[in-house]
This record gives sequence, C-alpha cells and structure tokens, in this order.
Amino acid sequence: MSEEVGEILIPSDRIAARVGELGRLLADAYTGREVVVVAVMKGCVLFLADLVRAWPAAMDIEFVTARSYEGTRPGDVRLTLPPELAEVVPGRPVLIVDDIFDTGRTLSAVCRQIETLGAAELKTLVLLAKRRAAPREPPIRRPDWVGFEIEDRFVIGYGLDYRGRWRNLPYVAALRQKP
Ligand code: IMP
Ligand code: MG
Repeated sequence: MSEEVGEILIPSDRIAARVGELGRLLADAYTGREVVVVAVMKGCVLFLADLVRAWPAAMDIEFVTARSYEGTRPGDVRLTLPPELAEVVPGRPVLIVDDIFDTGRTLSAVCRQIETLGAAELKTLVLLAKRRAAPREPPIRRPDWVGFEIEDRFVIGYGLDYRGRWRNLPYVAALRQKP
C-alpha cells in the first residue's frame, strides 16, 4: 500500500470484537445514568463511531480538540472546548474517550478541564495503551478502561495518524519508518 504502513498489529475483526465488549461493559457500568461522552478529536473519531453504536443508551456526545505543541516543551497540550460543555457537564457522569494513552498528558489535561466544570463522576476510556519502559510521572492516572495494551511503538490507523495521514485505515498498524 505505502512504504509508511507496516505490519498489521490489530486487524479489524479483533477491533470490532473488542469494541462490542466495551459497549457491553459501558452499558452495564452506566445503567440508569445518562452519561456525557467527551471525545478527544481527532484520533478517537473512528473508535467513537463504532463504540457508541455498540452501546445503545441515552447519552450526550461532545467533542474537544487536543493538540500537542511541537517546538515547545514536550507534552504541552492545547485544548479547545466547546462552550456547550459548561452547560451539559455539571452534575453528570462524564466518560472521556481517547485514541491512545502514551505519556498520559493529553488525558490528564482533558480530565483537569472537565473537573473544573463540576462533573459528578469522571472516567476515562482509551482504545490503546502503550506499555512504556519509562514510568509515567505522577500525577498521571491510568485510564479506567483500555481496549488493547500494545508495545511501545508508533502506530497508525483506526483514527491514529502519522503527520495527518492514515487515520482511515480500518486496522491498527505499525508505522514503517524510512531507513
Ligand atoms: P499522550 O502522550 O498520552 O498525551 O498522547 C498524546 C497524543 O499523541 C495521543 O492522543 C495521540 O493523538 C498521539 N499519539 C501518541 N502515540 C501515538 C502513536 O503511536 N500513533 C499516533 N498518535 C499517537
Ligand atoms: Mg494525533
């Protein structure tokens, strides 16, 4: 396909099976409570679209955008939140959905912002979590639900990009770096 797309790590049938399981877990966890799903753009869009269809409950779906700055301090995260969040979040259970847990800084930054809005409860779900050799610095908290634990390597597909490309692949693959 392209010299950037390497080995397939998680094929689409495994993703579909796991997303179905997660949908059932969430349906159980939130029975009788109307959750606000806060999806972190853009990486989570494919995952989110499949997840909410596996979880047919009444819910709000809101989007925030997270961007890590390049060229400034590593891990500086710039968030854009829509003004409606301040109206829907207070007193509600909130589930933050993101594509991948790497250093954990993005998820932490989103959690801090949502906490200031007065959520009744805050939980997090990521499709992928990297097994990192280096420990994550506190106060990084682990996601409450993880789709797949993966090796510490750069992955693309199913929402994840390399320089804006390959989000549309229906599977998760390793990035093949040019020699
Ligand atoms: P963090 O290091 O946990 O804050 O992850 C930051 C963001 O970096 C994620 O939400 C992804 O958008 C991106 N990211 C981290 N690892 C990968 C990867 O392996 N492939 C593509 N994007 C990644
Ligand atoms: Mg990204």
